[in-house]
Amino acid sequence: MTQTLTIPRPDDWHLHLRDGAMLQAVLPETARHFGRAIIMPNLVPPVVRGDQAAAYRDRILAALPEGMAFEPLMTLYLTEDTDPEDVAAAHASGLVKAVKLYPAGATTNSASGVTNFDNVRPVLEKMAEIGLPLCTHGEVTDNHIDIFDREAVFIDRVLDPIRKATPGLRVVMEHITTRNAADYVASQDTDLGATITTHHLIINRNHILAGGIKPHYYCLPVAKREEHRLALRAAAVSGDKRYFLGTDSAPHTDPNKLSECGCAGCFTATNTMSLLAHVFEEEGALDKLAGFASENGPAFYRLPVSRETLTLRKSEAAAEFPKKIETGDGPVTVFDPGFPVYWHADS
Ligand code: DOR
Ligand code: ZN
Repeated sequence: MTQTLTIPRPDDWHLHLRDGAMLQAVLPETARHFGRAIIMPNLVPPVVRGDQAAAYRDRILAALPEGMAFEPLMTLYLTEDTDPEDVAAAHASGLVKAVKLYPAGATTNSASGVTNFDNVRPVLEKMAEIGLPLCTHGEVTDNHIDIFDREAVFIDRVLDPIRKATPGLRVVMEHITTRNAADYVASQDTDLGATITTHHLIINRNHILAGGIKPHYYCLPVAKREEHRLALRAAAVSGDKRYFLGTDSAPHTDPNKLSECGCAGCFTATNTMSLLAHVFEEEGALDKLAGFASENGPAFYRLPVSRETLTLRKSEAAAEFPKKIETGDGPVTVFDPGFPVYWHADS
């Protein structure tokens, strides 16, 4: 018998769409199931000012296939030169929904990120004043900090001090990967939220490293030990409104992944909703999927929940996903969970 689950149309609160031929190819993969997405600004060059965000938004809408509806929620890339007044104007016009903090050097295209956090204080204070959320890539970048510890150290050394120094600043800890991060969110007030990716609910670091190196499972922050994956699952299905879906779907072409210095990113846009239904069912929490994927994010961003719906159907036949998406820049491999999934998402 077919089991169905209908939820409000989900949103993706952390998404990389890139630009040009890549944008053209990956946008339909998200727009098929998601109504809105927070669009990451780490292009080359990054989306720093309001006028650049407006132009990027136009390029996204121009790439949207006929008949598909999708609302890109734009972000600005925080640099030490960001002008608080430009941020405020981009927010006031309704264009920009968040500002993204990348510690310099933390990940793909983060060279223009922040080194000295004191230099962005005026922007953070303006954001607290106008209620504009800060999205954080929560990893320190110091070479002597072990890569598996960088998220926990970021909380202590950067995030907590910023939040204490900036009362009222609303912060999203993006793509959390540790029990430390999930516990930190739980211990704070509702000015703090966290996104969790689909892949961090499925893989731990063994998937990347045991039995041969698997570049398609490498992303940043890197997947941690099993105990952390289990803590993320518990947070995602808890019903706590501070945790919501941000896929961090991050396309890179196969040559760029399968290289001596492979890029970080898992491309999950195509099968995320099927995988999430599988995970939530495994956790005995299908009733919590609507909150995680469709309701908690809008509540944090103070936007309405979608009035459209998405129906997921479980059938006897495993869902078939393309192994790769062809793009004008080269093939992009779709995240392989490593197990069959019986949930199908209507488009
Ligand atoms: O794995 C990742 N890929 N993590 C990030 O923070 C950036 C992203 C990308 O842009 O490829
Ligand atoms: Zn990302």
